[in-house]
Amino acid sequence: MKRILVTGAAGFIGFHTTLALKKCLDVELILIDSLRPAFESPMTSTRVNILSKSGHKVVVINLAKCSPQELQTQIGKVDLVIHLAASPGVRVPLGDESVYFENNVLGFTNILNFCALLGAPLVFASSSSIYGDKGQSGPVPEASMQTYTGRGIYALAKWTNEEISRLYYNNGYVKSVGLRFFSVYGKYGRPDMAYYSFTQRILEGVPIKIFGSNDHRRDFTPIEYVLADLLFLVEKILKNDSILDRIYEYDGSNTLNIGAGQPVRIGSLLEVIVEKLGKSAIFELSELIPEESTGTWSDNNKRNSFLSPRLDLDFKEQIGHFVDWYLDAK
Ligand SMILES: NC(=O)c1ccc[n+]([C@@H]2O[C@H](COP(=O)([O-])OP(=O)(O)OC[C@H]3O[C@@H](n4cnc5c(N)ncnc54)[C@H](O)[C@@H]3O)[C@@H](O)[C@H]2O)c1
Repeated sequence: MKRILVTGAAGFIGFHTTLALKKCLDVELILIDSLRPAFESPMTSTRVNILSKSGHKVVVINLAKCSPQELQTQIGKVDLVIHLAASPGVRVPLGDESVYFENNVLGFTNILNFCALLGAPLVFASSSSIYGDKGQSGPVPEASMQTYTGRGIYALAKWTNEEISRLYYNNGYVKSVGLRFFSVYGKYGRPDMAYYSFTQRILEGVPIKIFGSNDHRRDFTPIEYVLADLLFLVEKILKNDSILDRIYEYDGSNTLNIGAGQPVRIGSLLEVIVEKLGKSAIFELSELIPEESTGTWSDNNKRNSFLSPRLDLDFKEQIGHFVDWYLDAK
């Protein structure tokens, strides 16, 4: 049976990825997480408990402090690594930069070298934040990133991951693909993200702070899209399909945008949640944080050339499902 390592398994995307892989494929999963998310939240233990009830143990390892050799001793050989562990979110408090570099760059290079040691391919999480403001005026294709245009430390760390992985690809050490996720949302999600905190704050009657303008747009992407794309890629890779080489050769970039391709105004997100909850929101505009992009927009042409067609999920309905889940979970 093929063995897959999933890192960041106690996180939002890692948790769903684990359950989806187990449901759809006959594979052995090895799960790693430091259980130290960037934003403290009871959601981590909720996810770990659900994983544990369905027979999945999360091995607690800080990847920034674990050498590739130590990792090999602890977990043995794997056929594929899905690296999702990181400190996510563009708003890095001043003074916390080194934590982001530890988790997001050191952790990443340890995983990359682990893959090199084993000869295993790597699928890793990058981020739409590397595009900076490019998505404000139209969809951004992967190859448009010839030079770095991101705005903060988080985006810089993700860009660094992409560059190092490209070097390893070119040198024949590790085949990989970086998935540039665009604002992923769904149940068991991250309380620091807008869709989640808006819901929470409206229900608590607490003011919502909107940074910059509620006309800024985000390409909100349902977790279901991410899971379908990941499963498709994993199946191909495990069958020794040449998909990673083909993705790279397409435009000289081992990356794929994973976004809905339909940006939504922050103001519209708020309206959808307000309507669903039947409660009004108190909100205040404050200055744009320098690390925040003014707009994100995924160009899906490259994705559509390699991955299977998507279900067409309606944004309003999907946010509605999230709110229903939130109210049930309370
Ligand atoms: N959710 C999104 O919208 C989004 C968008 C773009 C990119 N991403 C990226 O996708 C990945 C998953 O994001 P998420 O939303 O599930 O975040 P998350 O915070 O819910 O999950 C990340 C997990 O990684 C773990 N972790 C952090 N540092 C670690 C380390 N050094 N060793 C081991 N585990 C460590 C954390 O404990 C956490 O459980 C991240 O790499 C993130 O940067 C997410």
